[in-house]
Amino acid sequence: MSKVTDLLGSQYPIIQGAMGVICNPELVAAVSEAGGFGLLATAFAEDVEAVREQAKVTKKLTNKPSGANLFMMNPLTENFAKVLAEEGIRTVTVSGGSPKALIPLLRDLGLKVIVVVPTVEVAKGAEGLGADAVVAEGSESGGVQGFKGVSTMVLVPAVVDEVNIPVIAAGGISDSCGYKAALALGAEGVQIGTRFIATKECIAHAVYKNTIVAAADTGTGLVNMLRFQIRALRTTLVERLLKGQESSMPDFTWQAMEDSWIKGDLEAGVLPAGQVAGRISTILSVREIIKEIVA
Ligand SMILES: Cc1cc2nc3c(=O)[nH]c(=O)nc-3n(C[C@H](O)[C@H](O)[C@H](O)COP(=O)(O)O)c2cc1C
Repeated sequence: MSKVTDLLGSQYPIIQGAMGVICNPELVAAVSEAGGFGLLATAFAEDVEAVREQAKVTKKLTNKPSGANLFMMNPLTENFAKVLAEEGIRTVTVSGGSPKALIPLLRDLGLKVIVVVPTVEVAKGAEGLGADAVVAEGSESGGVQGFKGVSTMVLVPAVVDEVNIPVIAAGGISDSCGYKAALALGAEGVQIGTRFIATKECIAHAVYKNTIVAAADTGTGLVNMLRFQIRALRTTLVERLLKGQESSMPDFTWQAMEDSWIKGDLEAGVLPAGQVAGRISTILSVREIIKEIVA
C-alpha cells in the first residue's frame, strides 16, 4: 500500500476529481468499484439534505471507500462536512480557498484532509495547517482556478521538493502515460477530472461528452469570472466571452450547471474541461479507463 492508498483506503492512488452537478453517485461509485477513489461534489450545493442523500445513494451502490470535496467559497461547507462524516465519509478534499478555519472541525469529525493547491506557497501553508496530503493542481486543469496558473509539469515537482506530505498530481492526466509522468515527477497519486466526464457512467449530457471528444488541444479557454477563472470548452458562448462580446458573465450556479451540463443547453452556462480534452477521443466506461491507467 502506498501512503496515498492508505489515506484513501482505495486499491489505486487515483482520485476522481469533484465536478459539480455531474459527480452523480453512479459515477462516484463506479470509480470506487474500479479501484479508484470517487468524490462527491458540494461546491455550489445549496441544500444540506441533498448532499446527505447523494452520500446515502453512493453508499448503496458501493461498499468501497469514497469521499467528497468541500469548497471554501460555499457558506454551507461546515454543515456539509458534518453530514458527510455522519454518512461515513472518512476523507475529504478541500479547495477554493484557505482551509484554515475549517480544519479544526474536520479533525473533530475524524476526517482525513487533502488540500487542493495551485502553488508551492499554498502547498507549504496546507502542510503547516496539518493537511494529510495535497493535490497539486496545474493550470491545464478543467474548472475553477486562480490567476497565477502554474502548469502541472512545473508545479508537481516543485511542490514535491518543498513538502513532506504526499503529493497527488492533477491537471492534464487522462491515461497511463499521464499517470506514469505524474509518478515520475514525484507525485504519489493522481486526481483526474475531464477524462471521467467522457464516460458511460457520468450524468453529463451527450453534447458535453461529445464536445470533449471533438476538442482539439486548443479546445479550451480561460473565462474570467472576476474572483476566479474557469477553464472551459470553447463553445460559441465561451468564444463570445473570450472576445468580450457578452455584456454579463455567465451564471455559475447549481441551476445553470444543471441546465448546461446535464440538460445540454449550451447558452445556459460554460462547460468546464481541461486541456486534456484534446487527448480524449472516446467515451469509455470508468472501469476501462482505470484498467488502462494501471495496466
Ligand atoms: C466540470 C468540472 C467541475 C469541477 N468542479 C470542481 C469542484 O467542485 N471542486 C474541485 O475541487 N475541483 C473541481 N474541478 C477540478 C477537478 O476536480 C480536477 O482537479 C481537474 O479536473 C483535474 O484536471 P483535468 O480536468 O485535466 O483532469 C472541476 C473540474 C471540472 C472539469
